[in-house]
Amino acid sequence: MAITVEKPGIDGLEEAVAELREWQSDGVAWQLHPGDLGWFWRKGPEETAASVRIWRRDGRILAVGFLDGADLLRFTTAPDVRRDEELARRVAEDVASPERGVLPEGNVFVEAPPDALLQEVLPGHGWHVDDEEPWTPLSLDLTEPVKAPDLRIETVGADLAAAWAEVIGTAFNGSTFTAEKWRTMAAGPAFADARCLLGYDDRGAAVAAVAVWSAGPGKPGLLEPMGVHRDQRGHGYGRAITVAAAAALRELGSSSAVVNTPSSNVAAVTTYKSGGFQPWPETRDLTRDA
Ligand SMILES: CC(C)(COP(=O)(O)OP(=O)(O)OC[C@H]1O[C@@H](n2cnc3c(N)ncnc32)[C@H](O)[C@@H]1OP(=O)(O)O)[C@@H](O)C(=O)NCCC(=O)NCCS
Repeated sequence: MAITVEKPGIDGLEEAVAELREWQSDGVAWQLHPGDLGWFWRKGPEETAASVRIWRRDGRILAVGFLDGADLLRFTTAPDVRRDEELARRVAEDVASPERGVLPEGNVFVEAPPDALLQEVLPGHGWHVDDEEPWTPLSLDLTEPVKAPDLRIETVGADLAAAWAEVIGTAFNGSTFTAEKWRTMAAGPAFADARCLLGYDDRGAAVAAVAVWSAGPGKPGLLEPMGVHRDQRGHGYGRAITVAAAAALRELGSSSAVVNTPSSNVAAVTTYKSGGFQPWPETRDLTRDA
């Protein structure tokens, strides 16, 4: 039976989130996580569905791709088809053919797990490794308890959504995050296993924010996003909210906490290391030859 690629409806999206949860494992440096779709869900279910591609064989979902922006396809597969030749060849053809609706023409990028056969197949199809923006995945094993953060932490519900949105808004340049977007995100299927946390300083001001996304017990959980108020940097709040995030994921049953950040974001990489995270070897996207 041939492999097909499709854009899911809202129902298909929930199926894709469920598969992504199943596929997470501690043995892989980095791969697309259900929390990535959960965070994107702030833009609404329609836009999220429009950004997802699903590859099937005999009705079974083999792989999920997520257009994180117009030019980047983030891709992962079920663990047992990571080296499947038919799948790798089919995806290589699909990303090379704009008419198939996976990636547009022009300068585009693919992120795939380091152990995916696609990493070896795409270079034979006119793609090369993008050396301009290496990424650093980091993870923290959660077998042992995490020490308590030295910051008052609150779990965010609808009442604290505006405060959480404000901290995230000031932390990221150009962020347009709002309480309304928080409510949209919180209504998505991946949020059932997520927590948003806010950290408060001694004066009672909200200074740091993070969202954590469990993929279920015994699976790695994701931090996305994490940020400290622009005017409150350099006081240890980044480290404290990172530690609080790890503790929340441990409570949710996660086996580890994972995160991925551009290596050029030295403040973020240092903060995660300072919170006990260990870096994996850098990863790089693939990009189509000009
Ligand atoms: C990354 C960020 C959260 C750090 O917050 P912070 O409160 O200033 O960090 P902390 O004070 O807790 O510092 C933690 C560690 O990082 C180091 N650090 C912080 N900013 C740094 C910088 N700009 N350059 C180098 N190191 C830096 C600190 O020295 C400290 O290291 P140490 O524990 O080894 O002494 C903050 O800069 C931020 O919100 N950035 C924008 C959002 C972002 O990039 N988020 C992460 C990606 S999702």
